[in-house]
Amino acid sequence: MRSHSGAAQGGINASLGNTEAGKEDSVKRHAYDTIYGSDYLADQDAVMILCEEAPKIVIELESMGVPFSRLESGLIAQRPFGGAGFPRTCYAGDRTGHALLHTVFEQCVRLGVIFFEEYFLIDLITADDAIIGLIALDMNSGELVIFRTGTIILATGGFGRIFKRSTNALINTGDGLGAAFRAGVPMQDCEFVQFHPTTLYGTNILITEGARGEGGHLYNNKNERFMKKVAPKSAELAPRDIVARAIETEILEGRGFENNYVHLDLTHLGTEKIKERLPGIREIAINFARIDPIEQPIPVQPAQHYSMGGIASKYGGELGETPFKGLWAIGETSCISVHGANRLGGNSLLETIVFGRLVGRTLLKQGLRQITASDKVKQAEDRVVNATENLFKKWNSSTGEKPVIIRQEMKSIMDEHVGVFREESKLKFAVAALNKLRKNFEDVRVSTDSRKFNFGLIRALELRNMIEITEVTAFAARWRKESRGAHFRIDFPNRNDDDYLVHSLVSRTRDGLQMQTKPVKLGFFPVKERKY
Ligand code: FUM
Repeated sequence: MRSHSGAAQGGINASLGNTEAGKEDSVKRHAYDTIYGSDYLADQDAVMILCEEAPKIVIELESMGVPFSRLESGLIAQRPFGGAGFPRTCYAGDRTGHALLHTVFEQCVRLGVIFFEEYFLIDLITADDAIIGLIALDMNSGELVIFRTGTIILATGGFGRIFKRSTNALINTGDGLGAAFRAGVPMQDCEFVQFHPTTLYGTNILITEGARGEGGHLYNNKNERFMKKVAPKSAELAPRDIVARAIETEILEGRGFENNYVHLDLTHLGTEKIKERLPGIREIAINFARIDPIEQPIPVQPAQHYSMGGIASKYGGELGETPFKGLWAIGETSCISVHGANRLGGNSLLETIVFGRLVGRTLLKQGLRQITASDKVKQAEDRVVNATENLFKKWNSSTGEKPVIIRQEMKSIMDEHVGVFREESKLKFAVAALNKLRKNFEDVRVSTDSRKFNFGLIRALELRNMIEITEVTAFAARWRKESRGAHFRIDFPNRNDDDYLVHSLVSRTRDGLQMQTKPVKLGFFPVKERKY
């Protein structure tokens, strides 16, 4: 229940066409907006499935008990969101993820799903490029535990906490990605990091796009609605990559407030609308910035929000399948890839729930892989237990840095060198500095004498995963010498389809990180230039 999905605010997309303005919406329009918004890097076959399933799954969620907000007619309400041609985002006030998570959890309880609470995934156990289990730390007892299984679905969320400024929950440390990467699974498209345009200045708590969907405006210190100039047709409702860059530009060029933020003004929406549609935002602004949005504008700045990249998960003919037999990934952990270079708001809850169900159904059809005890299996398990014990022993006796020092340095490097605007000299520095940090991390100092609820140890295990993914992200960002979606290179400001209309795949070899590419699945909508 600490899943970051619970923090999703604005909603979930489905072309229900419930509102007057959205009557003409369709699956095809949803797919088109998603692919256009992705700057054509999304795999179009996967997007078609996402958008076809959306109306069905929202109705199914409604039947399970999700308390969606309603129109006068009683139908599920839908609001406009960035990059969407119609009001398509279904919502439960501004706490949609919370409502969804709790409803689905209730259904799991009803069905008797077994949860192993407070276990931390350390590593996957494999033999011959196939899954045979995993090793976890039981945080409650402090024991190492082996789960022997031939089927694993990783759903561990994103890795936003590699940045200092992030909307993400503290648990978003890329634990599934780190484990898969160490096992040898490539990471796909990790250079595409989404920076949400409007996060609360000071804490970077998310201020939902729904606030702009309901009519909120952005102003610089000259009282100009700068988005009207940047994106004349869609203004504040251009896709996130465009709005985030516009805000960052205002700040960098001296038109921000205190050189750090711009204003999100909701005051013209009126008390009633703010209280009904954006109660959580009002609460956040009052509690964390001492500002009531009914009376004053909210100070906002861009911050890391979402990872479009993740575990390469489109192999063997099935969505969600990784190159390792028995290993699957869904949601932000995975790169299936439906978001390409830039995700549209409202498509991430949808992705998680559509592909979560799809992979579940595929596995029900295929049957789970059974792993029976054998000498080979026992030896692989023993090897992983010994390696983990040795790692803990080494950390315990080390005189090196404390993890927190490395963690802070890592986050500063990411914020300063792999942020909204990127360029060769900064990326070169980041790749080298992160590689050095990863080496320093090998000698990290952690007390492991007592393992029961040892949060120092948990933080170190998280850092072990984050360090892997930061290096991958900077490496891929340096390799991609073009600008596409959320990845903007000052030194290569244009999109370059001739050389880079491909997915990046990063693996670790003996000689360091290695880049391979994979074609993007096109064919439903022709590739064209993006204009808003
Ligand atoms: O702005 C938001 O409410 C975020 C939604 C999303 O990331 O999909």
